[in-house]
Amino acid sequence: MDIAKIATELEHTGYIVLARPLVDKLLAELFTRCHDDDPIRFHAAQVGRGAAKQQIDSIRGDVIDWLDARNSTDQAYLACMEELRLGLNAALFLGLFDFESHYAIYGSGDGYAKHSDVLQGKKNRILSTVLYLNEDWHACDGGELVVFEATGKTIVATVNPTFGTMIIFLSESFPHEVLTSHATRRSIAGWFRVSGS
Ligand code: OGA
Ligand code: MN
Repeated sequence: MDIAKIATELEHTGYIVLARPLVDKLLAELFTRCHDDDPIRFHAAQVGRGAAKQQIDSIRGDVIDWLDARNSTDQAYLACMEELRLGLNAALFLGLFDFESHYAIYGSGDGYAKHSDVLQGKKNRILSTVLYLNEDWHACDGGELVVFEATGKTIVATVNPTFGTMIIFLSESFPHEVLTSHATRRSIAGWFRVSGS
């Protein structure tokens, strides 16, 4: 990953879309991991936290599975993100403390309504990342990530979830939504956090 370029873009525009920052071998392994044929791994995503936590299909329809530091493929991805964390801290003094991330699978008909990644009452998510794992994605498959500027009125980017593409953005500055997908859509969402509330 070109960490210097990522740092510069984050500083100037607050987000960056990378065409293929990871090596093919790792992408292929991550794609294999991002399948819900193992019934004990993936579960319906929830919205909110604490007592307000709820599962609302009308808000988001994906199933998720948190990365497992004991799995060698997940370890390899987490190692890349750790390198990014350290590089961004050195370049931008962000004080990023850790990284949490999950695989996500949207079935046909699923999306995720416009939202912010900063959880209510919590400000510890600083940077959001999404890596897409969809080979042969076509325009008719929908499922684009639409990114808005902070007020949520103006679109700043529309990202196709094509294989190997990664977006990184400041969590607090960019509300975003996943348009309805018309095919199975695979990704890894993640968040660099600072410690504390
Ligand atoms: C999320 C999210 C975007 C995407 O999981 O919070 O916004 O493109 N995902 O999958
Ligand atoms: Mn989000």
